Amino acid sequence: MMQHFIVIGNPINHSKSPQIHTAFARSVGLSVSYQKQYCPNDADSFTAVVSAFFAGGGVGANITLPFKEMAFEMIKSNGRLSTHALAAGAVNTILQDQQGLYGDNTDGRGLVADLYAQAIELDNKKIALIGAGGAARGVILPLLEAGAHISIFNRTFLKATNLVNEFQSDKLSAHSLDELKTGGKFDVIINATSATTIGQILDLGDCSANFAYDMMYGKPSEFLIHFKQQGADISDGFGMLIQQAKLSFEQWTGKTIDLSQVQF
Ligand code: ATR
Repeated sequence: MMQHFIVIGNPINHSKSPQIHTAFARSVGLSVSYQKQYCPNDADSFTAVVSAFFAGGGVGANITLPFKEMAFEMIKSNGRLSTHALAAGAVNTILQDQQGLYGDNTDGRGLVADLYAQAIELDNKKIALIGAGGAARGVILPLLEAGAHISIFNRTFLKATNLVNEFQSDKLSAHSLDELKTGGKFDVIINATSATTIGQILDLGDCSANFAYDMMYGKPSEFLIHFKQQGADISDGFGMLIQQAKLSFEQWTGKTIDLSQVQF
């Protein structure tokens, strides 16, 4: 029987999720339809789209910009949230079971899975996480679970402090971006700011890292160029996109995806 999935966003045309999930389905012999779903950017429209999809027998929905926080609020008031969704304050994966809607966030576990796939160790390692917006918040719990020590650097120091206070972990600390410039040394540095996407350049000063990861993909990254010039290994966020999708798909279908068997 054909199973139905959607990704809801605005804009949505650029989404690669249908190709990724269709390739996963092919690799395990499942028959699926995975559609892009545009939605006007307001909570009423969003709730209506999600409700109609699941009322019509839909199996799973991915949520992308700008709806992840809206999905969180919707399911908070009418459903159940995973610990990762609660920590992220955002939902990227929805399913429906006998008890109703269930919201999860696979972004952070996707990042950790991609780092492991590139043989990057995290246990007791020093991580610099740049940014204190939604993208940064979404990866903190999985990085902590992997045993990392995380220093959050943000242009607006207060936002970093507020974020750190939410987690109450002695493995997490808040810093200003200026502090990073004066030269920290890290095992892994992760760009979770929106600077690249809005065409701005992060001032990174003298800091150094063995491995640099930009959560963005598809555009040249000054951030990655900076660390490559220092001799660091680098990665963009494409693997994170694949891994977060894999975690959603596995949760929806109960199948295990072997990425070496997937032809995109
Ligand atoms: P997202 O959901 O993508 O994280 P966001 O919540 O708007 O988006 O957060 C954007 C993040 O990028 C913030 O940490 C922001 O820093 P501020 O908190 O100081 O605004 C960071 N950011 C964006 N442009 C930046 C720039 N040019 N230099 C440094 N940080 C930048």
